[in-house]
Amino acid sequence: MKVNKAEIVISAVSEKQYPNDKWPEIALAGRSNVGKSSFINKLINRKNLARTSSKPGKTQTLNFYNINDLFYFVDVPGYGYAKVSKKEREKWGGNMMEEYFSLRDTLRLTVLIVDIRHQPTEDDRLMYDFLKHYEIPVLVIATKLDKIPKNKRDTHLKRVISTLEMDEDDAVLSFSAETSEGKEEVWSYLDNFIK
Ligand code: GTP
Ligand code: MG
Repeated sequence: MKVNKAEIVISAVSEKQYPNDKWPEIALAGRSNVGKSSFINKLINRKNLARTSSKPGKTQTLNFYNINDLFYFVDVPGYGYAKVSKKEREKWGGNMMEEYFSLRDTLRLTVLIVDIRHQPTEDDRLMYDFLKHYEIPVLVIATKLDKIPKNKRDTHLKRVISTLEMDEDDAVLSFSAETSEGKEEVWSYLDNFIK
């Protein structure tokens, strides 16, 4: 997709702030610092529209990005980082995330991002199961592909699939926000959920 418009519409903390124009939404999910915001930036060719940081816990709200007046990318806070975990717990407990994922009827797909270097964590498994429970289509992205040698890619991808106990019809794609590798494949997958 050629992105000629990309802008933040709202940083929301509750349902009444969500946009209501019924465009399809693609949300991100994944551990803090795994590269969710970087994934959005790379796909839309913007360096720092979605704010990124080398420190976990950068994204703290549900950020809706209008893409081409066609659909929204929804960037979300990460999970699983000790220092922000109390805040995270409040967000889940206070329902900010659960409210979005469980109630949002325009949510077409969630992109669950994992780090290809590491075995998915228990939190990743819980997130995957949570999405399956709500019957939300999920695309797993194994990112930071630039950080492992080519001959390890296959083994690491298989470990992602087996650790998450992924359904056979769910896709996993590898990606790097550093080198753009995988970007075209990701866009052709996402295209099916935007129309
Ligand atoms: P939170 O908002 O805190 O949940 O983090 P996030 O998942 O949005 O991560 P973010 O995009 O802010 O990236 C975290 C760090 O990882 C930054 O330093 C990025 O530059 C780096 N990063 C993200 N993707 C890649 C990648 O594909 N390769 C490499 N080498 N670094 C990456
Ligand atoms: Mg972020």
